[in-house]
Amino acid sequence: MAARCLCCQQPVSEDGRYHARCLKALWGKAAAPRIPFAAKDLPDKVTTSAEHMSISGVQAKALVRLNEDSGEVEFSPAGSTHILKPEPNEYPGLPAMENACMGMADALAMNVPPHGLFPMADGRLCYIVKRFDRADDGGKIQSETMFQVLGAEDKYKGSLESVGKAIRAHAENVGLDTIDFFERVLLCFLIGNGDMHLKNWAFLIRGKKAALAPVYDFVSSKVYIKRESDTALTINGKGDKLQRADFEGLAKNLKLDPRAAANSFAKMKGAQEKLRELAIYSELDPSMRQEFEDVLGERFRRLFPVGNIHCENGLARV
Ligand SMILES: Nc1ncnc2c1ncn2[C@@H]1O[C@H](COP(=O)(O)OP(=O)(O)OP(=O)(O)O)[C@@H](O)[C@H]1O
Ligand SMILES: [Mg+2]
Repeated sequence: MAARCLCCQQPVSEDGRYHARCLKALWGKAAAPRIPFAAKDLPDKVTTSAEHMSISGVQAKALVRLNEDSGEVEFSPAGSTHILKPEPNEYPGLPAMENACMGMADALAMNVPPHGLFPMADGRLCYIVKRFDRADDGGKIQSETMFQVLGAEDKYKGSLESVGKAIRAHAENVGLDTIDFFERVLLCFLIGNGDMHLKNWAFLIRGKKAALAPVYDFVSSKVYIKRESDTALTINGKGDKLQRADFEGLAKNLKLDPRAAANSFAKMKGAQEKLRELAIYSELDPSMRQEFEDVLGERFRRLFPVGNIHCENGLARV
């Protein structure tokens, strides 16, 4: 079996485990940096809240950058360019899971920041993503999560319709951002990401122009938490047992052109094999890969029930 790049998860023929282009996109040069520390050496957690039984809050992370002289990753509370997430003991393989899910978003041509897996000093892989709220010259780009935008008090209380409404109210490019948002919602359902709370959606703001921030924190929480509901924020008033009709209701609420919505569904269906492949070739251990594949299979069956055929104006039932 051909080796897979630890950034994009596509086959890699070069020596080593990364495409030069993937390393360049992430680090500005085609060399993989060394990480001279392990998870236990991380400075104090950036977040400590654990108000909800979920993956968020329990995961330690560090703000880092590449030291150009030593070729090593170093902690950098100020002036960081990347976020590093080690493997939590409670959630084995979570970095590989996040990398796989981001790769799936990438495969669907979503706006995904450069990311990859790198061995820490103890050999365990961590996930590293480039900060999208930093410009190439180090300047800050303002980012605001939907928790802030909506003035919420609980990041798990709210609806995806209200996030869509905020996009329609503030985004410079409402049409594109709304479709992008809708497709991310579909993908999250398909991968079993039930943890998209209000802090996992954000705007990037340049001057007075707001745009949906790139994809972040995509994981299949369903693989880790068996009782995980379908969605953290409600869709069509529901948090669980979602059906195709609920997503069609969301599309309507978002005022998507029916043809655009049909396109988005078709795009997801067309990517089924690709997503399965990315799960199978992920760095997860074999039993988790299988569980992930099972979640994908179940979700695709639910979103695309047998008996539905697509026609030009949307969906017809046979
Ligand atoms: N690539 C990125 N660039 C800039 N900011 C980011 C990036 N990825 C995540 N963030 C910001 O950092 C916060 C935490 O990251 P993330 O959601 O990936 O981790 P988490 O473990 O779920 O953390 P939390 O428990 O705080 O939700 C996000 O809410 C987001 O605002
Ligand atoms: Mg998060």
